[in-house]
Amino acid sequence: PVQVYETSQDLSRLLRRLETCGKPFAVAINGLALGGGLEVCLGCHYRVLSDSPKAVVGLPEVKVGLLPGGGGTQRLPRLIGIQKALPLMLDGNPVAPPQALALGIIHAVLPQAELVPAARAWVLANPQAQQPWDVKGFKLPGGAGAMAPHAADSFGAGSSRLMRATRRNYPAPLAISAAVYEGTQLPIDTGLRLESKHFATLLAGPVARNLTRTLFINKGAADKLERRPAGVPKAKVTKLGVLGAGMMGAGIAQVAAAAGIQVVLIDSTPQQAEQGRARIAAALDKAVARKQLSVERAATQLALVTATTDYALLAGAELVIEAVFESREIKREVTSKAAAVLGPDAIFASNTSTLPITGLSAAWPRPAQFIGLHFFSPVERMPLVEVILGKDTSPQTLAHALDFVGQLRKTPIVVNDSPGFFTSRVFGTFVDEGMAMLQEGVAPALIENAARLAGMPVGPLAVTDEVTLDLQKKVYDQSIADQLPERFVRHGAQPVVNKMLELGRIGRRGGAGFYEYSESGKQLWPGLAEHFPHAAEQPDAELLRRRFLAIQALETARCVEEGVIEHPADADLGSILGIGYPSWTGGTLSYIETLGLQAFVDECHDLAGRYGPRFQPSEWLAARARAGTPFHA
Ligand code: NAI
Repeated sequence: PVQVYETSQDLSRLLRRLETCGKPFAVAINGLALGGGLEVCLGCHYRVLSDSPKAVVGLPEVKVGLLPGGGGTQRLPRLIGIQKALPLMLDGNPVAPPQALALGIIHAVLPQAELVPAARAWVLANPQAQQPWDVKGFKLPGGAGAMAPHAADSFGAGSSRLMRATRRNYPAPLAISAAVYEGTQLPIDTGLRLESKHFATLLAGPVARNLTRTLFINKGAADKLERRPAGVPKAKVTKLGVLGAGMMGAGIAQVAAAAGIQVVLIDSTPQQAEQGRARIAAALDKAVARKQLSVERAATQLALVTATTDYALLAGAELVIEAVFESREIKREVTSKAAAVLGPDAIFASNTSTLPITGLSAAWPRPAQFIGLHFFSPVERMPLVEVILGKDTSPQTLAHALDFVGQLRKTPIVVNDSPGFFTSRVFGTFVDEGMAMLQEGVAPALIENAARLAGMPVGPLAVTDEVTLDLQKKVYDQSIADQLPERFVRHGAQPVVNKMLELGRIGRRGGAGFYEYSESGKQLWPGLAEHFPHAAEQPDAELLRRRFLAIQALETARCVEEGVIEHPADADLGSILGIGYPSWTGGTLSYIETLGLQAFVDECHDLAGRYGPRFQPSEWLAARARAGTPFHA
């Protein structure tokens, strides 16, 4: 931290010299000014910003677990007041030129060609420029300190809001709030030193490293299709077939149409196909009502979707994705029907969430051109696509599938075939751990809260209600029918699932599950206490929190061991973007490394002693820990 402190002080001192050296500085901002870029601008006396739609300003450091360390936490509040400045730094969202002007971050918005002349003219007209905070008698707009009229909300209620939002897992927002609260009551030079101290502490901690590595560097690389095999010419899908116009099929058709792709959406009856198209129309209408989309663009997108039962219309599609019921029989049938129409270059993809790809590919005449494209629900909002390689999938098919994911502007990860692939398999352990806790007699509210304390977006009982309990049973029955190896069969959850199904509580869709549902919302079903009696002694929430984090991380390590995951970045990204593993960890493998491999193995031994062999680390992992071989280079 000391070294980081010194380095970050360098930039701070430089900008301080710039604004106090006695010469006027004006800046003409012709595009993005985010983070350090905006901080340099704030160190100038005058700022003009282009009116181009690409021009935005903002301080997004919080998103990678940092604070604006180049004077941002000190200059922005002094410029526009704490009340306006704090949310900009806590949310980290960029603002467009009109907003930036209204907030007072910049002095004028001008057409691109007038920027530099305007900045020049200002410099010539203002030889004696000074920053407002260096003028004698400066008062911070809206006031600073505990007595400021907004202090109770900004810092009192504000801190509670931050605690609730971060569950103490993310230190940056609190550090930003502290730097602003303390720094604005001090002379600016002292405030800048204080900012550097907070910055150094964050930068030296694990959360900033985890967020930066996974959500900035590795996500950026995945979005640039880093895993695309080299040497395969780039391909573009112009016509897509989607089989099954249900929730997932309609969602996939919608995002494809939004990317300008012509879509043929097929279901078994004209009514069902039309229902899928109506679902898309409704989603587009909603986007128009929210002003996210123009009426014309919505109409253009909808016009790209043809709903039909006629497979002949698939002719000419470069790619077909099936999203029919999760049944091998039905999937085989629709795959063969499509094969009869499609040319030799076409690729066939399955959106299955559990059925191994290699098996499904037998129904396609060219298994080399068969691949898994696993989307997440709701498709239009979830950024991840899990790309699954079957045994015979060719590098060219992978390359073209990745090109398609890029066309949709989604983030791909690439995994090898295995029951549940990567994301469903790891997510299963989270859900099952929640059920195991219920079975042990842990109070349901404690289970749900411990998961949220860990940073999971929803508790395991709530999420099981969403996907419905009968689906859990189907997956279980299928794994027995397929005679999967024991480690893939989710025995642990079954007593709870069976009991709930006996009680007729299948989840939200049936109006009753672990929760009860009413007009006013949902709450945990009090009847759970009768069927899963509370243990006399309740465990510490921290222990439950660690269980949730560890079991998913351990399953991920198994996926690496078995070759399902080849690149650690895929596991980290997939766990955060696909199944809601908390981002402060950097993902399941980064979590292991945050604890330290040996410490993680010790933790698993401890948990195995308490809760059973599912927590037992493999000899492979133990050896890796002894050798000190990290997952990330
Ligand atoms: P859904 O039940 O909403 O939609 C399935 C559609 O397929 C229905 O419209 C049905 O009429 C149609 N269909 C059934 N048999 C057909 C046939 N022979 N020919 C043409 N259409 C037929 O199901 P959902 O949720 O959209 O799931 C579809 C697939 O996506 C499944 O394989 C599922 O495992 C997978 N999946 C589901 C996710 C989810 O969150 N629901 C997430 C990721 C994958």
